[in-house]
This record gives sequence, C-alpha cells and structure tokens, in this order.
Amino acid sequence: MNLIIKDNYDEMSKATGDFVIDYINKKADTLLCIAGGETPYGLFKYLIEASKNGKVDFSKCKFVGLDEWVGLGRETRGSCQETLYNNFFDLLPIKEEQICFFNGLAENLESECKRVDKFISDNGNIDLMVLGIGMNGHIGFNEPNVPLDTYCHVVDLDPITKDVSVKYFDEALDVKQGISLGMKTINESDTILLMANEERKAEIVRKTVNEEKTPLVPSSLLKDFPKLYFFLDKAAASKL
Ligand code: GLP
Repeated sequence: MNLIIKDNYDEMSKATGDFVIDYINKKADTLLCIAGGETPYGLFKYLIEASKNGKVDFSKCKFVGLDEWVGLGRETRGSCQETLYNNFFDLLPIKEEQICFFNGLAENLESECKRVDKFISDNGNIDLMVLGIGMNGHIGFNEPNVPLDTYCHVVDLDPITKDVSVKYFDEALDVKQGISLGMKTINESDTILLMANEERKAEIVRKTVNEEKTPLVPSSLLKDFPKLYFFLDKAAASKL
C-alpha cells in the first residue's frame, strides 16, 4: 500500500487529482469510477478546473458509477447519481454515452446489476477506481462482513451506513438497501485510489492500515492490492 499523507483536504484532493490526470494522459480511454459521498468534492473541482485548462481530456474516457441507494434516483439531492452528475459529469465536456450509472429506482435491480456489469466488461474492466471509505470501513456499499465473490449486487445496509446517510439528504430518508459494484469488480481494477479526510475517519483509517485484513472492515481487504494508493489528510492519518 502506498500512503500519501497531505497537510489538508485541498492538498489531498490535488494530489489525488494529479494522479488521475497523469493516468488519463497515459491512457486516454480510461474507464474511471469515482465514488459518491462527500470525500471526492475537492477532487471533482480540481479535475473540472484541469479539464477547462486543457491539462486533461476526458473525451475518450468512460465513467461508471460505484453505488447507489436503492429507491433513490437523480432527482433526490444527495443520491450518488445526483452527486456525480451535478458536481462532475455535467460540468465536463463529455457525452451521456460515456457514462453508465446505477438507477436506484429500477424495477428490476438484478437486471440493473447485469447492465452495469456488462458495461464494465464491454470496456475491459475498470482502469482507475477512486474510492471513499465509510465510517464502518465500507467501500461502495460493500458493508462489514462483505462477500468476496461478488460483482454488482444489491445489499442490505449496515446500521452505521443508515445512521450516516442523514448527512447527504435534505430530510432523513428511510434507506434500507444499496446497489454496488462488488469486491470482485473492485479487485479486477487496474489501480485503486482510496481517499479519506477529517479526524472522524482516523479510527477506521487506523483499522484499515494497521490491523489484519478482515471482511468486517471491507477497506482492509484492499491492503495487498498491487496498485493501491491511499490518499489522506493529516487529520485522517492522525492515528497511524
Ligand atoms: C457512502 C457511499 C460511498 C462513499 C462512502 C464514504 O455511503 N456509499 O460511495 O465512498 O460512503 O462517504 P463520505 O465520502 O461521505 O464519507
């Protein structure tokens, strides 16, 4: 695992962004997956600015969603789809055909999983996966006690994930399930960037980095992934 610890959130976002830019400059048709949640906001801003300044060209890239709350679509502020479109995709000069995102409102969630799996395999697996880390160590909606042999799947949300969910929405929503890329999908990526900031993540970062691998802390399962880069700010790294 490569640990990159920066003084603050902006520096962390910039370092992650420079990695992404470098990667795309070497592989123009990168299949990129970036998590929703709050962590990547700074990264989005940095990449949008870089695109405007001609430092990176996303026109040949493909984008796939990491996860979504079941029952929520783009019209719900705080859904993963809304976050990605309003803060990233819609602000880049890219076309809708380049993007494949989970529809949390799909009637048939199994076919939704198959649709996303197919998009990924049709494009030769994910090149660059940018993940956040949940307070319980989840990555995407791969929750504690995660099965290792899954591609896209529907999961029952962990109680901690449900509690934390209130921060994303204008009003508390009764979210019970998520739809997510699985550990197999994640492990078949070429390169993984994990990001964490703020002191509240310090304990789960410590467990991820300093303790044994366990499915109880899904992020710890990435430890031996050959090309893993863990970007942290000082506060999140404070217990290492
Ligand atoms: C959320 C999302 C993930 C995200 C993680 C961390 O529930 N399902 O995609 O990476 O949890 O979220 P945050 O960045 O808001 O701390």
